[in-house]
Amino acid sequence: MTQPDFIPEPYTSQIEKGSFKWSSPSNIALVKYWGKKEHQIPANPSISFTLDACRTTTLLSFEKKEASNGFSFEVFLEGDKKDDFKPKIETFFKRIEAYLPFLKEYHFTIDTSNSFPHSSGIASSASGMSALALCLMSIEKELVPEMNDEFFLQKASFLARLGSGSACRSLEGDLIVWGSHQEINGSSDLFGVKYPFEVHDNFKNYHDTILLVDKGEKQVSSTVGHNLMHDHPFAEQRFEQAHDNLSKLINVFKSGDIDEFIAIVESEALTLHAMMMTSMPYFILMKPNTLEIINKIWQFRKETGLHICFTLDAGANVHILHPENEAEAIFKFINTELVAYCQNGHYICDRIGFGAKQLPI
Ligand code: PMV
Repeated sequence: MTQPDFIPEPYTSQIEKGSFKWSSPSNIALVKYWGKKEHQIPANPSISFTLDACRTTTLLSFEKKEASNGFSFEVFLEGDKKDDFKPKIETFFKRIEAYLPFLKEYHFTIDTSNSFPHSSGIASSASGMSALALCLMSIEKELVPEMNDEFFLQKASFLARLGSGSACRSLEGDLIVWGSHQEINGSSDLFGVKYPFEVHDNFKNYHDTILLVDKGEKQVSSTVGHNLMHDHPFAEQRFEQAHDNLSKLINVFKSGDIDEFIAIVESEALTLHAMMMTSMPYFILMKPNTLEIINKIWQFRKETGLHICFTLDAGANVHILHPENEAEAIFKFINTELVAYCQNGHYICDRIGFGAKQLPI
């Protein structure tokens, strides 16, 4: 598929008004996307676990209006009008207009809610943009009734990417690749695809417990962060490393080698932060408690031999990854040793999930 394949033929069907509701999860990258080219094309391929509990539910209502030059929409978060969300959605609509030419023909009401607490420091852009992209595709499906499910999901991922890069990895589960990689047939810079190879049982039902270290606003928006990779002295090596790490993960997923998995995943997390620390301007997004938690995890792993590891997003919160069969001992460790480092003792128990779901209205 190429970009022009997502531009529709003139619509033959019509719809006056209606509403669609989708719930879409967040995802956590194992090999990180950090750095992009024009049009949200990633500078390197990435792979993520789709999550299950952390989700955004969006109800999109639409009604035909006089065609005009601008977009017409309102946004609500948990029932409250959110005009400060409008610029981001306006930008998203502008980017996707060529692919969804009906956008200016309707007035939209976007009603959205998150399963995780607002301002938990968990980015809602992946779950939010993917849920919105799916609602918009549900409208297009009414206009193009013959559209098949594969194209529907691929185009929803393509559109979600234009909202927030990592959002294109939130539509399906449980492992999603985004960005072309020479060993992964079908991988694309334009949309996320399901990881196509064998995955050992060790990696089924993996858990992700998210320790909320700092619930504040992000210090650096991801747009600014990605842009800092343009003149970054280590960018090229980093992009190459991401390709290599993804190649290594193919063997890891096949063999079930959790020790190697841990080495790659933790290195990726620290590399992401190292890129921010070595950009100009530079940032430290980890907090003292982030480092306390990492050291505790390393100590516990050494003492018990359990397969606990961490990864990080572009923030201070710590994602603890571990296999299902070690959950009991690891939950006990989190409860007794790590809760003290979380803001107000808050953490979220999540696990690998299988993607977005359409909900009845
Ligand atoms: O989707 P964006 O533009 O917010 O970028 C997110 C990038 C990371 O979350 C830091 C890494 C990733 O691959 O998800």
